[in-house]
Amino acid sequence: MREINASIPFDKALWRQDIAASQAHVAMLAKQGIVSAADAKAIAYGLAQIAGEYEQDGVPEDWDLEDIHMTTEARLTELIGPAAGRLHTARSRNDQVATDFKLWVREALDAMDAGLADLQRALVARAGEHADSIMPGFTHLQTAQPVTLGHHLMAYYAMLRRDRSRLADARTRLNECPLGSAALAGTGFPIDRDATSQALGFDRPTANSLDAVSDRDFALDYLFAASQCALHLSRLAEELILWASQPFGFVRMPDALSTGSSIMPQKKNPDAAELVRGHAGRVIGCATALMVTMKGLPLAYSKDMQDDKPPVFEAAGLMELSIAAMTGMIADATFRTERMRQAAELGFATATDLADWLVREADIPFREAHHITGAAVKLAEESNCALIELPLAELQAIDARIDARVFDALSVDASVAARASYGGTAPEQVRLQVARARAELGMDG
Ligand code: ARG
Repeated sequence: MREINASIPFDKALWRQDIAASQAHVAMLAKQGIVSAADAKAIAYGLAQIAGEYEQDGVPEDWDLEDIHMTTEARLTELIGPAAGRLHTARSRNDQVATDFKLWVREALDAMDAGLADLQRALVARAGEHADSIMPGFTHLQTAQPVTLGHHLMAYYAMLRRDRSRLADARTRLNECPLGSAALAGTGFPIDRDATSQALGFDRPTANSLDAVSDRDFALDYLFAASQCALHLSRLAEELILWASQPFGFVRMPDALSTGSSIMPQKKNPDAAELVRGHAGRVIGCATALMVTMKGLPLAYSKDMQDDKPPVFEAAGLMELSIAAMTGMIADATFRTERMRQAAELGFATATDLADWLVREADIPFREAHHITGAAVKLAEESNCALIELPLAELQAIDARIDARVFDALSVDASVAARASYGGTAPEQVRLQVARARAELGMDG
């Protein structure tokens, strides 16, 4: 029982939040005349002393004391005697742990948001450098149309922007204070829930005590937001891994975030990116674990809920590492823009531009233009050359309406410059995206 019951090995991570919530609680108890000013003073002094001890020496792990709440109360009793027993008036470990955990998750949301803002800054800086750098854009991982590297990087900025909005949303929903819900039914003592809520930076007290002690939506919201963000990071990681491979050769990863092989001297492996890709699986596993723990639990608190913390702590650690590693990779990667441009020039990436030209200049319906372009691509393939290298006479043999002006449309530069629709890949549009992002991130001072 001792072993299965103890949560102190992991919930000691909540010690700062536990002390802060107890300080707010005892101050309120004194103000309401529920404990005497002298006892409240002794309790506050003792809690501050314990915080100093935990800070210095860590939290002692005595399984008989079960959790961080009992550990702190036991130490408080050693320090100030029986008055320590008054701290737990009008509260229960059920509202206590819900409050502590919310405070912890709130900080984790803020930390993830700050990390993502740094990663966004790195993306925006590199996108600004590469607003004009041309690379192949893919669909089905087949060369589709030329795009700019800046545009590609800004796609991840957009994903992280949604991730950050999910974090903000989760924070708003989380920010109601459970303290004072007591075990499940509230309390008969004349407490002031607004006071504790305010002291701990919550927007208001929770509205229903049964819900408050059994709600772990805030932890799930954190894990959902983390999962979706981890998905995004895994996609970027996968692209960096592909791009760093020899056949692509689009990027050189920073040495500090790569490793060598113990047997193959030529190898440089993108391990950090692979681990970011891998961590996404574990973060999603954490979200799944807590969902399954919560499924079918009757009101109110059940001990199953003690298992809420390890998956959240694990996911938070993984996200911190993944975001930091990705920020370093983006900031310090060397993009091999000459290789990217070469790749864009192969693979008939400007075929759509030929079709668009036929529509625009020769007034041919798009479907027919698509067909004519197919014949031109086939010819270029057989001649082992790019579309732009086909002799005019051969193009005219396919369709007489083609004239020499077509070559202006067939370069990769002309192709990206033409895609200047709002949100498109044209360098001018990418620079607009970057400018807007820089303003959002406060990067321009
Ligand atoms: N260690 C418990 C947890 O983490 C604290 C709440 C215990 N409540 C109770 N009724 N046994 O959930």
